[in-house]
Amino acid sequence: MSCMLLFDVTGDQRMGEINKAVIPAAGMGTRFLPASKAIPKELLPVFDVPLIHKAVEECVNSDIKEIIFIISHGKDSIIQYFENSLEYEKLMHEKNMEVYASYFKKLRSEISFKYVYQPVQLGLGHAVLLAKEHINSEAFAVILPDDVILGKQSALNELVSIYNLFQTSVLAVENVPNEKLSDYGVIKPYQIQKSIYEVYDMIEKPKIGFAPSNLGIVGRYILTPEIFEVLETVKPGVNGEIQLTDGLLSLLEIQKIHACEFSGIRFDAGNPVGLLKASIHYGMSDEKYKKEIREWIQGTLKSEI
Ligand code: UTP
Repeated sequence: MSCMLLFDVTGDQRMGEINKAVIPAAGMGTRFLPASKAIPKELLPVFDVPLIHKAVEECVNSDIKEIIFIISHGKDSIIQYFENSLEYEKLMHEKNMEVYASYFKKLRSEISFKYVYQPVQLGLGHAVLLAKEHINSEAFAVILPDDVILGKQSALNELVSIYNLFQTSVLAVENVPNEKLSDYGVIKPYQIQKSIYEVYDMIEKPKIGFAPSNLGIVGRYILTPEIFEVLETVKPGVNGEIQLTDGLLSLLEIQKIHACEFSGIRFDAGNPVGLLKASIHYGMSDEKYKKEIREWIQGTLKSEI
């Protein structure tokens, strides 16, 4: 169910107030070793499109004008993917891949790209903090490329709608089964209407039985600029990393935060099974491949591997 039920947040009100997005892509990608030894995890494909391409597509659909990528050494191929496109645009045009040719053309003409290096992988909170010099004093979006959200509505657009209503930070949340809650930051919600919540509290990776709800935070955020002040004071938490959730907890002490249960289906593509599921789902949304994939899966299920 969409976040946009009772409030009318269509048209001009939906767009335009969030101009910048941060895409953290500096992580080690250890769950994808050995593939991630030479290829950044964020360039691994969801079927035939890199994870980071899908993340940027979501930014484009939300009218984002500037994208700040946080990358690390050895991930320069991410820069190449977005910057060296003229020759490929021509090739894609010739091969009837007009959708992709126009995607890169739009990026080239309408979006400004910035790259910041994270020298040591000190966590997601630290990665976001590195974008500070490019954000100044405006609210901005954060998209984690390894959370793939597929659906008719762009999840980021749904969050921007909530931001436009409340002018607060907005977190994407989804209903997580009990046994998986300890992998997530979990919110204590106050429901405002279906799919829209005010966040009263949060716990990062709660022990079984200690989660305040089943709503786990996933990789789409709208953050107010005050997040930088609080991240500067956050001490390393779980895994010795500077956790974004810890920053959000400090932010909650000074500002309200809202959460949105987005309408799409989300895949945790930060692990191989999640990426495989996302690939199958995305591949099957293309009529050209749907039948072949379905028949192969049905045949495989009957046979013993
Ligand atoms: P993850 O924790 O899922 O990515 O971070 P990871 O650390 O690369 O994965 P594993 O656990 O080693 O397999 C979510 C997102 O945040 C980025 C990652 O690149 C990913 O897009 N990230 C994470 C950073 O940019 N810097 C960090 O220090 C940590």
